[in-house]
Amino acid sequence: MSADAGVRPGECHVWTARAVSVSPDLAALLDDAERRVYASFLREPDAALYVTAHALLRLVVGEALGRDPADLVFAAGPHGKPYLENARVEFSLSHAGERVAVAVTSDTPVGVDVERVPRAGAELPLHVLSPAERAAYDLLPAGCRAGAFTSYWVRKEAVLKATGEGLRVDPARLTVSAADRPAELLGWRGRKAVRGEAVQGKAVRGEAVQPHLPVRLYDLGSPEGYR
Ligand SMILES: CC(C)(COP(=O)(O)OP(=O)(O)OC[C@H]1O[C@@H](n2cnc3c(N)ncnc32)[C@H](O)[C@@H]1OP(=O)(O)O)[C@@H](O)C(=O)NCCC(=O)NCCS
Repeated sequence: MSADAGVRPGECHVWTARAVSVSPDLAALLDDAERRVYASFLREPDAALYVTAHALLRLVVGEALGRDPADLVFAAGPHGKPYLENARVEFSLSHAGERVAVAVTSDTPVGVDVERVPRAGAELPLHVLSPAERAAYDLLPAGCRAGAFTSYWVRKEAVLKATGEGLRVDPARLTVSAADRPAELLGWRGRKAVRGEAVQGKAVRGEAVQPHLPVRLYDLGSPEGYR
């Protein structure tokens, strides 16, 4: 990691990692609560993913703030979104399979999501698609469906992680662009937002907010089998 990882306004830095095994050096960065979670995993790959994810988050945020990663004390918003008191940094963490992603900004909420593409033929929770997404999805050849569904899913979840609401909001209310289109939030049923304005009302760190407009979505290069 470079020594100059500070995040300037308007920038979003994304770091990714592959979890291979539990590294004692990384595990040493975790706090007691994280260590309890890590110790509760029965499977080594699950423990490796958790340790890698939380250590990467600490390293990236610590670097951005010029603080010791092991000293960071994370708080959680009402729906579980982690944040740091009195720190000018916003961040988001995601982990799935062997992959970890951390996104960091300084001036705007951010959400990142990584998911494994389900195996062909797996039953998919299609109820998370909006009617427009479902109509487009239904036209796809069977072989493309799992990947296309996963693209819809990560795009929606990234937005819901940015606002901090997570799956407390029905993802079917959001309509995002299809996998073969540039990533974009096309609509949000029931969500009123005023173009050009930032957060409406009083924003509390870590609490659900209306999305900043424009919401910007980006696809990140992902390894085979992931989105
Ligand atoms: C956030 C959420 C969408 C994560 O989905 P996921 O695909 O299983 O997991 P991801 O790997 O992408 O993200 C997990 C990380 O997101 C972060 N996170 C947790 N809640 C979050 C929220 N509401 N908003 C944004 N980020 C959140 C944490 O860093 C978490 O890491 P951890 O579980 O290792 O601590 C889902 O857990 C959710 O909807 N949570 C909120 C609703 C809820 O059930 N809250 C319970 C506490 S009140």
